[in-house]
Amino acid sequence: MRRFDGRVVMVTGAARGIGLGIVERLTSEGAAVAVADLDIEAGRAVAERLTGEGRKAVAVTCDVTSPESVAATVGEVVERLGRPDVLVNNAGGGLSLPDFDELTTGDWHRQLDVTLMGAVHCVQAALPHLSASPYGGAVVSVGSINGLAPFGSLAYSAGKAGLVNLTQNLAARYARRGVRFNVVTPGTTRTRAWDDQPDALERIEPTIPLGRIGRPADIAAAVAFLASDDAAWITGVTLPVDGGALLGAGRAFQNTDGEGAAAHGG
Ligand SMILES: NC(=O)c1ccc[n+]([C@@H]2O[C@H](COP(=O)([O-])OP(=O)(O)OC[C@H]3O[C@@H](n4cnc5c(N)ncnc54)[C@H](O)[C@@H]3O)[C@@H](O)[C@H]2O)c1
Repeated sequence: MRRFDGRVVMVTGAARGIGLGIVERLTSEGAAVAVADLDIEAGRAVAERLTGEGRKAVAVTCDVTSPESVAATVGEVVERLGRPDVLVNNAGGGLSLPDFDELTTGDWHRQLDVTLMGAVHCVQAALPHLSASPYGGAVVSVGSINGLAPFGSLAYSAGKAGLVNLTQNLAARYARRGVRFNVVTPGTTRTRAWDDQPDALERIEPTIPLGRIGRPADIAAAVAFLASDDAAWITGVTLPVDGGALLGAGRAFQNTDGEGAAAHGG
């Protein structure tokens, strides 16, 4: 018996990067996964490939910034796969924005809409289904170490910090309805999100105590754990998966044989 046999999971931002890693992991453990993404073509390619490998996946269009779009997505998931037992809030990423003193109110809204409000919309739409899950519902949100320490990207980081508090409150509020809420906070992970900063990963890598940049599979393993019955008595927690980057922002490592300080985050 695999951990997700018989379960339906909706993963947002699932067409590539960390979301795709999560889809790979959960389908390999038996889940029927809705690949929910703005980029429906990329989502379809993922679902077709996985279906060809004998796994269960469907692609659904989703814009997490729009409550109407999210409601339609959840409706489609219910119709095509059945009620979701697990929601993974992964969509998003840092927008290319100016420094704090030049950030406009519009910039803040655009970033918070995806980073924080995206999760709010998805939880609101999925909650009636999650709380009816015979397994107990689970929500795992993908935050960032940027939400836990001052690594820069202020609007993105504030949104990710908000996700942690939102998760704690939802965990407390809905525990008796049988729904668990947890956050995984990745450190720097190799995805296209870093494509526009070609030297950044090379600069950051030597400052990571465990010696390498993260892989989507590293994050997916933690998401799968928190979504599974192995975490049945865990709710409201924040689990950093960062190669040790939060250990004094690398200071302990730098005191031994590390390189100099560098901007981290993700
Ligand atoms: N890569 C890192 O270093 C890193 C570190 C910490 C946290 N994270 C977080 O991990 C998550 C995934 O990041 P990634 O690096 O895999 O990014 P990515 O750019 O590789 O993939 C993001 C996916 O989300 C989709 N998406 C974007 N906006 C959307 C929307 N409004 N509605 C639905 N789908 C949308 C995109 O189409 C894309 O498929 C994000 O929440 C990001 O903040 C990433």
